[in-house]
Amino acid sequence: LAAGFVNAAEPKVEIVGHRGASFDAPENTVAAIKLAWEQKADASEFDIYLTKDGKLVVIHDATTKRTAGEDKKVADSTLEELRTLDAGKWKGAKFAGEKLPTLDEMLATVPAGKRAFIEVKCGPEAVPEMDRVIKASKLKPEQTCVISFNADVIAATKKARPDLQALWLVSLNTKGKSRTVDELIAKAKEIKADGLDLSATPAVLDKAFAAKIKSAGLKLYVWTVNDADLAKKMIEVGAESITTDKPGWLREQLAK
Ligand code: G3P
Ligand code: CA
Repeated sequence: LAAGFVNAAEPKVEIVGHRGASFDAPENTVAAIKLAWEQKADASEFDIYLTKDGKLVVIHDATTKRTAGEDKKVADSTLEELRTLDAGKWKGAKFAGEKLPTLDEMLATVPAGKRAFIEVKCGPEAVPEMDRVIKASKLKPEQTCVISFNADVIAATKKARPDLQALWLVSLNTKGKSRTVDELIAKAKEIKADGLDLSATPAVLDKAFAAKIKSAGLKLYVWTVNDADLAKKMIEVGAESITTDKPGWLREQLAK
C-alpha cells in the first residue's frame, strides 16, 4: 500500500483535514492540526489572514467573534493583540488556552510526507509574507498547497513561486450563476492554477464535468465532505483529494 492512502482496491485519494480535525478540536488551532496528524490525515487545510502589522495568522473569519469571543477585525489588529485571545475554549474547556496560531507554527507541525493546504482568505498582498514563511519553514516545496477563492491570489502565488502547487477554490453552489466547466477551465489556465478545488456538489460535479477538468491537465480536489456516500461518489467521479472535518473517520469509512 502506498503510505497514507486508502486501501489499494480503492482509487487513491488524499484525505485532508478541514481547518485541522475540526469536528473534534477547535478549528484552525495547533491542537486541531496535531489531531489531524494523529488521525492519519494525508494533509491538513487551514485559513490565513494578514494582520495589521503584516503577520500571517490562522483564522477562518475576518473577525475573531465566532471562534475567540471578542469581536476584533483581524486586518485592524496586531498579532500581539490577537494572541491575547483564547481560540480554544468555545469548543470545550479542555481546549482553553489555545491561541490563534501563526502560519509558521502550523507549518512546524507538518510531519515528513504530509502536506499543508494554506487557504489565503485575504488578497494577493499576503503572498510575499507567505512565501517568506514557507521558505523559512522546514517543509519541502511539495509539502505545501496554496488554495484561494481569490483568483488573483493564485496568479500571484504561481508568479512568485511556480514550484508551489496552487489550486483555485470554487463553490459550485451558487444557484443559477455557476460558471460553466469551460469557463472554469479557461480561468484556471489564465491564472496558471494547477487545478480546481471544488465544493462537492454532485448535481453539478458529475463524471463529464470532472473528465473535462482532468483532460485539460488540471487537478480536481473537493471540499468539504463529512458523508461517506458523498465521498465515495466524489472518488468515483474522479476527485484526487477530499477535504473533511473528520479525517480519521473518513479513512475508516473508505477502507470498508
Ligand atoms: O478547503 C476549502 C474550504 O476550506 C473552503 O471553505 O469556508 O471552509 O474556508 P471554507
Ligand atoms: Ca478554508
